Amino acid sequence: MTVPTGTGAEISWQLRSMTPAVLHGETRGWSYFDGPSGTQMISPAIEAFAAFARSGLSNRHGYSPAGDETEDVVASARAQLRSLLHAEGYHVVFGQNMTSLAFSLGHALARQRGREGARVVVTELEHLANVDPWVQPFSDRGGSVHWLRVDPESLTLQREDIERAESEGGVAVVAATGAANAIGVVPDLAPLRDLASAQGAVFVVDGVHVVPHAPPDLAEVGADIFLCSAYKFYGPHVGVALVRESLLEDLPAYKVMPAPISGAEKLETGSQNHEGIASLAATIAGLGRLVGSSSGEGAREALQALGDREGDLVELLVEELRSMSNVRVFGHEGKRGAFVATVAFTVAGRTPSEVAEALRRDGVFVTAGDFYATALAARLGVDRTGGFVRAGLAGYTSEEDVRHLVESVKKLGR
Ligand SMILES: Cc1ncc(COP(=O)(O)O)c(C=O)c1O
Repeated sequence: MTVPTGTGAEISWQLRSMTPAVLHGETRGWSYFDGPSGTQMISPAIEAFAAFARSGLSNRHGYSPAGDETEDVVASARAQLRSLLHAEGYHVVFGQNMTSLAFSLGHALARQRGREGARVVVTELEHLANVDPWVQPFSDRGGSVHWLRVDPESLTLQREDIERAESEGGVAVVAATGAANAIGVVPDLAPLRDLASAQGAVFVVDGVHVVPHAPPDLAEVGADIFLCSAYKFYGPHVGVALVRESLLEDLPAYKVMPAPISGAEKLETGSQNHEGIASLAATIAGLGRLVGSSSGEGAREALQALGDREGDLVELLVEELRSMSNVRVFGHEGKRGAFVATVAFTVAGRTPSEVAEALRRDGVFVTAGDFYATALAARLGVDRTGGFVRAGLAGYTSEEDVRHLVESVKKLGR
């Protein structure tokens, strides 16, 4: 493997060097393109898990040095996330994963705002984890769903649907993704934020797929609730919800009665995965050190540089795939930044799972299906043919990996 040059490429090389599973795979000729389903963990994240357990365990609110450490770890992970996402004024809530946190929040919001005629606005770009947790509890109270369609050519959201939601009114929640997990497109969230604000609705952003590639600035996004998952950005299986403090204070969360009635702990039912939270704090510190600072701000800079490097590799991949007449690539036209490094494609005459199986035999690990983005798969006409093949580039993806993927797809015939 040749050592690349250039800032983003060098950081990517360093990230790869601290990702044991990727290095292990390299000796076997494996290339991982399944990051959108979950990236490999970096060594600081892995080591922090064990170190936390090794130094002695105690739950929060305990009376021992280990208990103090647990308090410190949770507080520092919250602070790291706030700085990573420029999230002043938000409570950082931990949970099992994004989906569970969204369901807790959806139930609480419906308890607060659910009624006959209340509307939940969602987009066709969503993973269903950003649809069902809002739609189901509101439907139980007589609410309904309003879908914002995606234009299949431009892959943008239909303006007229946003306007219709505004004119029909009664909007209680607007939920949209920061980047579509199935095809990587980054929607313009500003009109949705404006819609939510005009309607006095809660604006929810699913950040699971965007944080690993282009961590947003929450003050700019204007989300009331922002959700992400650390196992998608080189860390452990811990879900995170950033909830605007003013929203959370009044939220009638479902919880055991003696649990705190304010702050993040209101939503953190039961004991948390503290070793996972220690690992999450170490993930952010480890990413930050790639640019010389173990802060959340450092991790932000590192993820941005890695995202930029991924963009270069995506250009190479898309150009190669487009040169094959039997391959259809979804999106990745137009200006850079309009897509993160997730490339969905299909190969004529083969189902996506057949393609993924064939690539797997060559040591290239992509994924296949609709990735729970069922509305998008239907809109793009692949719902009855097995969905998409998805090649997800991560910060540790090398040019060799991309060439490996391209050569393997070429073997499927032109
Ligand atoms: C965009 C997006 N949102 C939500 C989820 C659900 O995340 P979790 O597994 O943390 O519940 C995923 C998982 O793949 C995702 O890609």
